[in-house]
Amino acid sequence: MSTHKPIRTVVFPVAGLGTRFLPATKMVPKELLPVVDKPLIQYAVEEALEAGIDRFIFITGRGKGAIEDHFDKAFELEVTLDARDKNKELSLLNKSMPQPGQMMFVRQQEPLGLGHAVWCAHKIVGDEPFAVVLPDDMVLGEKGCLAQMVQAYNETGGNLVAVEEVPHEHTNRYGVLNPGETKGALTRIKGLVEKPDPSKAPSNLAIIGRYILQPEVFAPLTEGKRGSGNEIQLTDAMATLLGTQPFHGFSFEGKRFDCGDKIGFLEANIAYGMAREDIRPGLTEILAKY
Ligand code: G1P
Repeated sequence: MSTHKPIRTVVFPVAGLGTRFLPATKMVPKELLPVVDKPLIQYAVEEALEAGIDRFIFITGRGKGAIEDHFDKAFELEVTLDARDKNKELSLLNKSMPQPGQMMFVRQQEPLGLGHAVWCAHKIVGDEPFAVVLPDDMVLGEKGCLAQMVQAYNETGGNLVAVEEVPHEHTNRYGVLNPGETKGALTRIKGLVEKPDPSKAPSNLAIIGRYILQPEVFAPLTEGKRGSGNEIQLTDAMATLLGTQPFHGFSFEGKRFDCGDKIGFLEANIAYGMAREDIRPGLTEILAKY
């Protein structure tokens, strides 16, 4: 039994405008774009469920109401499917449906950055450790990335961020570690910089969108200091706590896809399609044509 407080809550920052996917995201939240046949946000919720989490906080914004509807009962659709004996489709609708009361939706009224989005959850999270999942980052593997992290957290406690090595010239897209010693999957974090220029980056070990954080991170976020891009950055808030709490980078197992980028999103569709027995044969055939 772990002596660390369990991770019960996950925060999904989903207020972003999705400008990189216009016009698709004019009316449809980018988190509802499907990879094969499931929206990005549903993969994220299922990953959190697999990690044993049962409180889901969505940080939304204007025009994101469809996300809330996606996790609600669709009464007319269900009645119609039932009348037509479409049982397979019906069971798909109810899979990973949360229990009443498990989901909370909070508005981030202004786009002030990821740190601010996470801060918007502080009243609900309270004085407990919690997870943050960015649905844009998908990880395909046998065991979900967050479940792997929760397992590691149960041993080490403190704060964990998922990390992977990225091409050096891409450090300006990520939060980057100044790494200390590595033991197995865990790397001690000595420093953190948000989106450093490749010439100034302390390493090429980048944060990808999975975090396990202690509630103390809300204090520096409350101060609301602006960082990279004139936004309130989660990376900066974590950096102020280094030395007062354990912080580790966690090298997860699995392949990560950046679905915030068109090519990454298309690749995810191919990889997740190829991982499915019902899709692989047909997909293999058409891919050969290109
Ligand atoms: C955010 C974080 C960054 C992290 C990245 C992972 O950046 O600020 O530290 O490396 O997510 O995807 P964003 O992609 O929102 O610019």
